[in-house]
Amino acid sequence: MNIINALKGTHDILPAEVYKWQYVEEKIRQITKRYRYEEIRVPIFEYTELFARGVGDTTDVVQKEMYTFDDKGGRSLTLRPEGTAGVVRSFLEHGMFADALPKKLYYNITCYRNEKPQAGRYREFRQFGVEAFGTEDPSLDAEIIAMVVSLLKELGLKNLAVNINSIGCPKCRKTYNDKLREYLRPNYDRLCDTCKTRFEKNPLRILDCKADICKEIGKDAPVLIDNICEECADHFEKLKEELGVQGIEYVINKSIVRGLDYYTKTVFEITSDSLGAQSTVCGGGRYDGLVEELGGNPIPGIGFAMGLERLIMCMDAEGVYMGERGKTDIFVATLGEDARKFSVGFVKKLRDNGIAAEKDYMGRGLKAQMKYADKTGSKYSVVLGDNEIEQGKCSLKNMETGDTQELTFDEIVDKLKKPKG
Ligand code: HAM
Repeated sequence: MNIINALKGTHDILPAEVYKWQYVEEKIRQITKRYRYEEIRVPIFEYTELFARGVGDTTDVVQKEMYTFDDKGGRSLTLRPEGTAGVVRSFLEHGMFADALPKKLYYNITCYRNEKPQAGRYREFRQFGVEAFGTEDPSLDAEIIAMVVSLLKELGLKNLAVNINSIGCPKCRKTYNDKLREYLRPNYDRLCDTCKTRFEKNPLRILDCKADICKEIGKDAPVLIDNICEECADHFEKLKEELGVQGIEYVINKSIVRGLDYYTKTVFEITSDSLGAQSTVCGGGRYDGLVEELGGNPIPGIGFAMGLERLIMCMDAEGVYMGERGKTDIFVATLGEDARKFSVGFVKKLRDNGIAAEKDYMGRGLKAQMKYADKTGSKYSVVLGDNEIEQGKCSLKNMETGDTQELTFDEIVDKLKKPKG
């Protein structure tokens, strides 16, 4: 154990990189506003039971990957492995079903899964997600997919594929499960131990297992979409129609089953060729039974979540614009004690007028102060000495072009003044 190393599967986002995250977060704020999704912030931990019931106790996430602990009161709690269950809990707790529907929510959260770390797979990772409650209308499914595609396009990404599928409703799932069990039965003994327990309870999960042997056994299994009922097939047709109207290109990928239990009907994943093995940037779908499963009335829902580490990896790989590291507007260098004292008030005034201003704190000489201004990035600089203070003006230097301009202190404030924020 080395306490100055971040834990395996976690990572710091350092100042040299954080501007990329802020750029993406700002784009998320803009697009969610356009589609009228409002932000919700939910707790990092919840009762374990919420995830066991919400995500499903036969999923890899619940069976193998949760960070679960007992608190001092002996309650079993879990760090959220995803956002949907917590948002549904909050939707119910705060009676949002009585609000104008559909209720459209988004979140930007950290999630925790005890998976084997590799490129694009972390134990603490970040998700941007949305959840919309209150209608089964496939128009909302299409709109949600259109929103993600617009976001990714506006971020400049190109190597993307939208994969859609339908995994039916509990009615069609029942008949399908029997068919799937019949298909898998001759190989039952070869399944991994976890999948043996899934066989009776939830055989669909076997098709999502990461074990090579289960992948091999399930490879040619019957697919759900070929076995869905008329109502689900009609829903899927309408989704395709509305994606078409919006000019969204997609492929039907019959093998998508998703790793969480709550999905019904529409499921989708957006993959990128710019990523390695972990190529799914975003995944989501409809969950018409989840609100009821967690104790509410039957209120349909749909959502998705996007892995932000993967998104940023994609953007890096495709070399798209990701914003710039913030610069100080002005560095105030000083010569002598009187100037140093004066600079304290001047820098305060600049900052109070919305200007990013910086000064020396280290008692450095002028040369070293300018070197610091250069290293930390400043658009302008001034050097204040006894003369400048006496005359009430100084030379404002543009650090990029080297141009200078003689201005009073108030004129400098007026020139650089910005709305605060
Ligand atoms: P998910 O497919 O489990 O869905 O995760 C969504 C996205 O989170 C993935 O596509 C991936 O980009 C990212 N992700 C997942 N696990 C990791 C990891 N270990 N490291 C890095 N990134 C990861 C959900 O979480 C659902 N709650 C989505 C949803 C919302 N469905 C309906 N509403």
